[in-house]
Amino acid sequence: MSKIELKNIDKFYGSNHVLKGLNLVIEDGEFMTLLGPSGCGKTTTLRVVSGLESPQNGNIFLDGKEIVNAKELFYAPPSKRELNLVFQSYALWPHMTVYKNVAFGLQIKKIPSTEIKRRVENALERMQILQYQDRYPSELSGGQQQRVAIARAIVTVPKILLLDEPLSNLDAKLRIDMRSELKRLHQEMGTTVIYVTHDQIEALTMSTKVAIFFEGVLVQVASPMDVYKNPATLKVADFIGNPRINFVEAKAKLEGGALTVSSDLGIFRYEQKDFTGNEMPQNGEFNCVLGVRPEQLGLNEHAETSVEAVVYASQPAGSETLVQVQVKNTRLLVKQLGIVEWALDEKVTIGINPALINVFNKETGYLLKYAV
Ligand SMILES: Nc1ncnc2c1ncn2[C@@H]1O[C@H](COP(=O)(O)OP(=O)(O)O)[C@@H](O)[C@H]1O
Ligand SMILES: [Mg+2]
Repeated sequence: MSKIELKNIDKFYGSNHVLKGLNLVIEDGEFMTLLGPSGCGKTTTLRVVSGLESPQNGNIFLDGKEIVNAKELFYAPPSKRELNLVFQSYALWPHMTVYKNVAFGLQIKKIPSTEIKRRVENALERMQILQYQDRYPSELSGGQQQRVAIARAIVTVPKILLLDEPLSNLDAKLRIDMRSELKRLHQEMGTTVIYVTHDQIEALTMSTKVAIFFEGVLVQVASPMDVYKNPATLKVADFIGNPRINFVEAKAKLEGGALTVSSDLGIFRYEQKDFTGNEMPQNGEFNCVLGVRPEQLGLNEHAETSVEAVVYASQPAGSETLVQVQVKNTRLLVKQLGIVEWALDEKVTIGINPALINVFNKETGYLLKYAV
């Protein structure tokens, strides 16, 4: 039920320029994930939105209403913003039981007690902590406390839910369950969510949009699949995807409006319709880097084009097999589903679909050609 707009936000801590000209629109009902490595400014962005920090430059609008105007030193107080924030370091009330912690926000709103009970139990059940409702926070593990904090935030059905790495203390299995719960909750409540994580899997699996930051600069905002298929820069490509994307050195030349790219994988030609519009050298050869996801390569399978390779090492892991192969001077990782047996130094052909390859300008790092 709420749209947030950040315009030209700069945030400094002393001389440390933490957010650099941040422009970001979060549409009503969006699940927007702020993704990036530790220290890139994600938490600071949430704190600026919630009003716990004041940016030195820029404006913020909530449903079209200005809540921050740095030039005029106008900063609406956090209580006027109708946001609900869950921090990585959650603070539960130690003298209240789990039930009370979650119910408190509803009790002060004077909601009937049967309705409160229903909603609290539902939130606790979703977070798989209903059995702990009579315990005190000190009697819970870190992960359980974190789930109480999430339950407390969702039970009031806020206009905007801000979540800062809320699943970071949970073990792998529980994290998968909680991702499903948060995703379902978002769809059921229709709440706008701003979610912070450094975990690209979390970002890809839950979000409607992902905003990727490096060192306080917003590099790309797109749907999870767009970010995965067409990362805006080499850095984004490297950050997204597990196992990591393959990078292959290549030479490129623009000729007659088409791009000819040669590398150890072969010579590929790309037409203008697939260009991103990022600037590329018009004359002569220039260096580029190809991005190829491990699951896009086939081994001894029919494909549009193929190259000869030898198996360097194979890593069967049950549900998938990762195979490292050597093609001339290039080492590539290939991901296959299921258990596949490969011998060391076995000769194979690698199947390639050139259309799926990303082409980046090596010098600037920008994507030049989309995967289609
Ligand atoms: N209260 C603060 N005082 C000074 N520097 C801070 C403060 N909070 C964060 N920083 C600095 O701002 C940068 C971004 O921090 P943060 O937004 O917490 O990153 P992230 O959440 O992406 O890991 C870091 O360099 C961090 O050291
Ligand atoms: Mg943080």
